[in-house]
Amino acid sequence: MPVAASTRLVWAARVADPGPGERVLEVGFGHGVLLSLLAARLTSGSVLGLDRSATMTAAAAARNAAAVGAGTVRLQTAALTDADLPDAAFDLVVAVHVGAFWRPPAAEHAVVRRVLAEGGRFLLVDQPLQQGATRSRVDQVAGLAAPHGLTVAAVHTGATPPRPSIAVELRPGPG
Ligand SMILES: C[S@@+](CC[C@H](N)C(=O)[O-])C[C@H]1O[C@@H](n2cnc3c(N)ncnc32)[C@H](O)[C@@H]1O
Repeated sequence: MPVAASTRLVWAARVADPGPGERVLEVGFGHGVLLSLLAARLTSGSVLGLDRSATMTAAAAARNAAAVGAGTVRLQTAALTDADLPDAAFDLVVAVHVGAFWRPPAAEHAVVRRVLAEGGRFLLVDQPLQQGATRSRVDQVAGLAAPHGLTVAAVHTGATPPRPSIAVELRPGPG
């Protein structure tokens, strides 16, 4: 049975809101639910999904068969730090619930910085388990991303039962 879209992912798609022609990368797509939601919002442009799990790639391919067939969604099985991605190729990078971005050494931020096009943004979404953990998650991410040239531009908060979600918006910054 297909996995239903959680309130967290519906909210994440709304915050991401890809513009016309945007080139989107989702890191760690899991069952491919957000890929479907992003593809449905694209009037043009495309989404590349990257996940290190071949099992998840198969599940996401089945769920997004029509969009994959149309070329709107492409899938790649690889860990982000091993993936073959061109420089400056994406206007928007999204990752939901991918702990590698807030667990040291978080070298994944360097890859995101490299593949972001000028003016691009990176949305890192989480739904922390503990009440009140939002601030510390933002601080963790900010500290790990800064050495790779990404700075926190905004923090979006969503009412996504059973717990609030956050989307940390990072952009290439000074340094
Ligand atoms: C907790 S699941 C979240 C799935 C989905 N984003 C969601 O919120 O439902 C994390 C996913 O990210 C993938 N993943 C974790 N670290 C990754 C990395 N460094 N590169 C690519 N995929 C990764 C895992 O294989 C898994 O499918």
